[in-house]
Amino acid sequence: MTDTDIKKGLAGVVADTTAISKVNPETNSLLYRGYPVQELASTQSFEAVAYLLWNGDLPDETQLAQLRATERAYRHLPAEVRAAIDLVPLDAHPMDEVRTALSLIGAKDLAGTGSVLDVSGSTEENLARSVRLFAVLPAIVAYGQRRRRGQQPVEPRDDLDYAANFLWMTFGEESDAVVVDAFNRSMILYAEHSFNASTFTARVIASTLSDLYSAVVGAVGALKGPLHGGANEAVLHIFDEIGSAENVGPWLDEALAQKRKIMGFGHRVYKRGDSRVPTMKAALDTLVEHYDRPDVAALYDTLESEFVGRKGIYPNLDYPSGPAYNLIGFDTLTFTPLFVAARVTGWTAHIMEQLGSNALIRPLSAYNGPDERHIDGYVPDAAAL
Ligand code: CMC
Repeated sequence: MTDTDIKKGLAGVVADTTAISKVNPETNSLLYRGYPVQELASTQSFEAVAYLLWNGDLPDETQLAQLRATERAYRHLPAEVRAAIDLVPLDAHPMDEVRTALSLIGAKDLAGTGSVLDVSGSTEENLARSVRLFAVLPAIVAYGQRRRRGQQPVEPRDDLDYAANFLWMTFGEESDAVVVDAFNRSMILYAEHSFNASTFTARVIASTLSDLYSAVVGAVGALKGPLHGGANEAVLHIFDEIGSAENVGPWLDEALAQKRKIMGFGHRVYKRGDSRVPTMKAALDTLVEHYDRPDVAALYDTLESEFVGRKGIYPNLDYPSGPAYNLIGFDTLTFTPLFVAARVTGWTAHIMEQLGSNALIRPLSAYNGPDERHIDGYVPDAAAL
């Protein structure tokens, strides 16, 4: 095997087929089960898109009503999950909280499973588990943000749909329709993106016939990194550093001289712009107007035009979503958990797809360590013998 046979970072490798989404960098498009994501984001609820990702088609009225009823039934944070979150230090990253909560939910659900041979579950069982995770994640994320702010938790409201209830549980007040709409769009745009790092992680875990929860917990770990989901949080850190549009030029000079990565820009697959950005930027524009924050738009536009002008590297979804979540009122540390709440739909759809035609994912490696050698002359630690 030569160095050229090695696809570092699996770049350009087609690892399997998927019917869930299609990313086409040439046409700058992203389809969920055949539908352009921007059409879904501007016409559908996140619940309908979750249904589509799991089942392959958009729901009819009855199917949507059933999903909504189940989602409402599982919105409450179980007391023991709340207690487990409380054990996570307040200064730990909220993604550690989310990972811990989901791990406990999985352990409780799988309690009594006799053997590892029984954990992967049927499609029906996994679909039910997926809906329950989708339903409870807003409670986990909202509880975390309120806990860090020293606020009491807010119980869910059955009369609100997913997005409005998520905001209600986080802020304890009803959000304006324009805010709910922008948030709903962001959830849809974040829901699915083919074999990204966290989804692939979930598929690797599922391919061993482990359980859905283990696959989701592993995916949360992969999403936490700043090269992946952590970038939406990192964008806000950059905005905070820069402060205002006038400072963009000097800040960028220094950042590029230090060879820093500018978070929220670049993509492994899209090289001429991320297909999701225009839709999320339009949602951000509505929020800028709603909250009367032209300074945010000025910083956003100036950094984008300066960086694209200098490097030819375009924004990804995290670039508009970071400031959008900030305007809505989410703490910066909550941004990546919001990504989890959205992407859990894509992850679980992929886990079920993987299990539906499974092959253990086990690539090869090219060894570049020492040549074969032997232990002659090596003096062992006598105490260890
Ligand atoms: N800022 C500065 N330089 C960059 C950036 C950036 N954001 N992105 C790429 N480059 C440069 C990089 O330094 C390298 O330059 P050189 O060839 O001179 O060494 C070149 O472009 C290729 O970069 P790469 O990192 O090797 O390319 P990749 O395909 O592995 O990178 C990426 C994809 C997303 C890891 C990278 O663009 C990046 O680190 N971006 C910042 C983090 C970020 O916004 N991540 C969110 C990704 S999209 C949402 C998601 O899927 O989670």
